Amino acid sequence: MQFIDLKTQQKRIRNNLESRLRVVLDHGKYIMGPEVFELEEKLADYVGVKHCISCSSGTDALLIPLLAKGIGVGDAIITTPFTYIATAEVIALVGATPIFVDIYPETYNMNPEGIEGAIKQAKSKGLNPKAIIPVDLFGLPARYRMIEEIAKKHNLFILEDAAQGFGGEIGGKRAGSFGDVSSTSFFPAKPLGCYGDGGAIFTNDDELVNLMRSVRVHGSGEDKYDNVRIGINGRLDTIQAAILLEKLSIFDADEVELRNKVADYYKQNLNNDLKSPFVPKNYKSSWAQFSILAESSEEREEIMFKLKENDIPSMIYYRIPLHLQKVFKTLGYEIGDFPISEDIANRIFSIPMHPYLSNKDQDKIIRVLNND
Ligand SMILES: Cc1ncc(COP(=O)(O)O)c(C=O)c1O
Repeated sequence: MQFIDLKTQQKRIRNNLESRLRVVLDHGKYIMGPEVFELEEKLADYVGVKHCISCSSGTDALLIPLLAKGIGVGDAIITTPFTYIATAEVIALVGATPIFVDIYPETYNMNPEGIEGAIKQAKSKGLNPKAIIPVDLFGLPARYRMIEEIAKKHNLFILEDAAQGFGGEIGGKRAGSFGDVSSTSFFPAKPLGCYGDGGAIFTNDDELVNLMRSVRVHGSGEDKYDNVRIGINGRLDTIQAAILLEKLSIFDADEVELRNKVADYYKQNLNNDLKSPFVPKNYKSSWAQFSILAESSEEREEIMFKLKENDIPSMIYYRIPLHLQKVFKTLGYEIGDFPISEDIANRIFSIPMHPYLSNKDQDKIIRVLNND
C-alpha cells in the first residue's frame, strides 16, 4: 500500500502526458515556453485571481513576495510554529524575524487570537511587524476572515501559504485567493503536484505582480541583463508546466472530490477515540494529509508500529514545532511557549490519503486502527 499513489494517477493520464511532453521536446522552449503561460492563465482562472506567477518551488513562492515587498532586517513576520520549515525559513532568509502564534487544537491552523500579542511582542523587541503568513495546513484553509480583520487594523500584509491548501475553499472562495498574495507548491506529493519542484504565486495586485515577476528572474528590468533589484532564479520549467496542465485537467471535478470521499469514509468508520480532522462549516479541505490524534505519544508509537506490521505506511507531520527546531534556537523560544502546537506534535500522525485509495485498502487501515 502506498502513502500517496502517484503511479495510478500517472497510468490514467499517461497518454496525454506523453503528448504534452512530445510538444515541448519538439518546440524546445524549455525555459518560459508557451506551456508556462498557458498554465499561469489556467491557474489564475481556477483560483479566481487576476495574476498567477509560476515559479521554481513552494519555498520560492514564499520568498519572492517577501523580496518584492522589501521585507528585511528589523521586520517581524507573524506565522504558525506548526508547519513545514519553509514557511519560517523564508522569513529568516530575507533577514526578518519570525514571531510565532499558537494553533487551534481542532484544525491545527493559526489561532488569530494570538496575533495581537505577537504584534506587541515584536514591538517590544524593537521589530516592525510587517506581515502575517497563515498556513492552510493539511489542505484546510486558515481562518482568513478573522486574520484579515486584524491585518487591516494593524496595516499588515497577508501572504497565504497554500502549499498544502491548493484545492481547498471557504464558502466557495478558493485557497490561493486569500490575503494580499498567496503561494502554493507543486512538489510531487502535494494535492496538485508536478514531477519535480514547482510552485506558484497568486495576487490581484497589479503593481506587486510586476515586482514579483522581476524578482523571479534576477531582479530584471527591461530584460534579464538589466538588473534593478536583488532577485533569484525562480522560474518553473516548461516541462513541469506541461505536466501540470494535464494534472490540472483532472484536479478539481475529479481528484479533489475523490479525496473528499476518502476522507468522509475514514471519518464515518474510524473510532471516535482516534480524533479525526475537524472541518469547520463552509470550509472545504483538499486533504493534503489525513491526520489523526492518538491519546499520547506512546500510543502513537504503538499504533504506527501496528500499522507498519500490516504494511500500512504512516508519517508524522510534524514531530518538532518550529519554535523548538535547532535552527531557530537563537529566537529564544522555550518548551511550553506554544502548548497546543507542542501537544499536537506529540500525538499526531498521518495515514494514507490520495484520490485512488481503494475501499479495500481503506477497510484494512480502519480495521487496524479500530483494533477490530
Ligand atoms: C506549508 C508548506 N509551506 C511551504 C512548503 C514548501 O514547498 P516546496 O517543497 O515546494 O518548496 C511546503 C512543502 O512541503 C509546505 O508544506
